[in-house]
Amino acid sequence: MARGVEFLGSEVAIMCGAMSWVSERNLVAAISNAGGFGVIACGAMTPELLDREIAATGNLTDKPFGVNLITMHPQLFELIDVCARHGVTHIVLAGGLPPKGSLEAIKATGAKVIAFAPALSLAKKLIKSGVDALVIEGMEAGGHIGPVSTSVLAQEMLPEIADQVPVFVAGGIGRGEAIAGYLDMGAAGVQLGTRFVCATESIAHLNFKKAFLRASARDAVATVQVDPRLPVIPVRALKNAGSDLFTAKQREVAATLDTLSTDKAAMLEAQLQIEHYWAGALRRAVVDGDVEHGSLMAGQSVGMVTKEEPVAEIIESLMAQAAQALEKRAA
Ligand SMILES: Cc1cc2nc3c(=O)[nH]c(=O)nc-3n(C[C@H](O)[C@H](O)[C@H](O)COP(=O)(O)O)c2cc1C
Repeated sequence: MARGVEFLGSEVAIMCGAMSWVSERNLVAAISNAGGFGVIACGAMTPELLDREIAATGNLTDKPFGVNLITMHPQLFELIDVCARHGVTHIVLAGGLPPKGSLEAIKATGAKVIAFAPALSLAKKLIKSGVDALVIEGMEAGGHIGPVSTSVLAQEMLPEIADQVPVFVAGGIGRGEAIAGYLDMGAAGVQLGTRFVCATESIAHLNFKKAFLRASARDAVATVQVDPRLPVIPVRALKNAGSDLFTAKQREVAATLDTLSTDKAAMLEAQLQIEHYWAGALRRAVVDGDVEHGSLMAGQSVGMVTKEEPVAEIIESLMAQAAQALEKRAA
């Protein structure tokens, strides 16, 4: 993990991926205090809210942590300014290719840029445009996902790019043996989300945590697209009445498209509506505890989440499992 540790400035190269409503000051500080690398989920926050969240996190830890910004946020550049004012050291750009000027703007603040690379060709492009590190995330992950599994992405991409920038592997990691495997293949570290949702320090509603503790891998299913004109990004979540509400929402937005023109602006607006839907639905489950109608975003590793335990213990057991696997191999 030496390379990942050097890049992140943490004790172990385990990032807790940003999770909207979950990755706030308490979980982020707990992860960083335990030696990992916490990342604040900015999601749809305003610059003022992000300002407060970074300051509050800084009050709870003196260890490094990052901020995750969504590329399609209408105030992306103001959010970058907020990070700059706080001297944020690492910015994770999620949700699509970085818009023009955003990489330069972040680098001018002195922060390192971590971007998601959904395919090898895009990874190469991102490295050329100057990103400092990459996350490759497979479809086993919770939340918005791509179409390819982590194991295939890792095999396709690590041999080609791992020597150029630090690469963090995400999606479906529940135990340390898997971490050891990806490190062996050239990864600098890993990113986990689902495994940390039930941490004692996570403020997720008790109902949300209980749903995770009950679920097995097969309960974490990806949404399906109902209309070919609406290329919605699939979301992996525990199946509930909310999953059906999402299908209904897609039909409703598609019906609006029937009566409107199919020009680009109308399409974009339709897609934005869908994204806003997700933010609201996730809040309903994580914050209000409505696990029937809200969104229970979770990855397939959810079956390996079996109890509520402190972040430090989760990281400790992941590291022990990884070390044991590597020692076995060396022997
Ligand atoms: C409840 C939940 C919410 C998430 N929200 C976000 C988000 O707002 N932004 C983001 O970039 N990734 C988000 N993710 C993805 C995580 O950051 C992380 O990459 C993913 O959980 C890793 O895969 P795993 O769930 O298999 O561990 C979310 C994941 C979950 C489970």
